[in-house]
Amino acid sequence: MNIFNKNFPNIFIEKGRLYVKTDFSNSLFDERIVRDGNNLFREWDPKRSKLAAALMNQISQIGFKEDSTVLYLGASHGYTPSFVSDIVAKGFVFAVEIAPIVARDLVIVCEERRNMIPILASANHPKDYETVVSKVDIVYQDISQKNQVEIFLKNCDTYLKQGGFGLLALKARSIDVTKQPRDLYKEVKSALEKMITVVDFRELQPFEKDHGFFIVKKR
Ligand SMILES: C[S@@+](CC[C@H](N)C(=O)[O-])C[C@H]1O[C@@H](n2cnc3c(N)ncnc32)[C@H](O)[C@@H]1O
Repeated sequence: MNIFNKNFPNIFIEKGRLYVKTDFSNSLFDERIVRDGNNLFREWDPKRSKLAAALMNQISQIGFKEDSTVLYLGASHGYTPSFVSDIVAKGFVFAVEIAPIVARDLVIVCEERRNMIPILASANHPKDYETVVSKVDIVYQDISQKNQVEIFLKNCDTYLKQGGFGLLALKARSIDVTKQPRDLYKEVKSALEKMITVVDFRELQPFEKDHGFFIVKKR
C-alpha cells in the first residue's frame, strides 16, 4: 500500500485502486478488505463516492485531519460517511440524513463505530440539530436538491469553524436541467465566493456525469 498524498490521512493507493485504513474487518457494503502486515484497508469505489472520485481526479486539498470533526449532510446509507469515519479515526462525524428508510442502514453503520452518529433531519433547517452538533472543522455535503448551494452555505455559516473547510458535491442537473453544467459551475463558484473562499474544484467524470466538487475555506 502506498500513501495517496502525505497531506491526506489514512488514504492509500495500490495498483490504481483507492483504499482507506480501517479498524473494522467486516465489509458492510461488499467492499474488499485487504490486510497488509498488521493493518486493514477498505477498498473505496470512486463510482460510489464523490469524495473518492474527486481524489482520483487529483483534488489538491480536502482539509481532513485525523482528528477532524465533520458535519456530513446527505449521509444516505452511510457508504462515503463510513470512509470519512475511517479517515478521521480520532475525530467525529455527525451524519445528517432526511430519508428514514436509508437512515435505517446508516444507523447500523454508526452502531459499530465509536466516532459517528446518525441524525434524522433536513439539512435545510440547520437549527433543528443545534442541540446535537458542535462547531466543526469540515462541512461535507452531497445532497441533490435544487437549493443545495443555499443549504451548504447555511450550514457552513452555522457550524463551520473559521478556517475550516467545506466540501460540496454538486449535482448540476438537480439545480437546473436546462443549463450546461459548466455554466452552472461558474454561477455556483460566484455564489460561493460571496461568502467563502473557493480553493479548488474538480469535475467528477468519468466516475459521475454532470457533477462538480468544490473545496472551500471559511474566511
Ligand atoms: C446522493 S445521496 C448521498 C450519498 C452519500 N453521500 C454517499 O456518498 O454515500 C443524497 C442523499 O441526500 C439526502 N437528502 C436529500 N435532501 C436532504 C436534506 N434536505 N437533508 C438531508 N439529507 C437530504 C437523500 O435522502 C439522499 O440519501
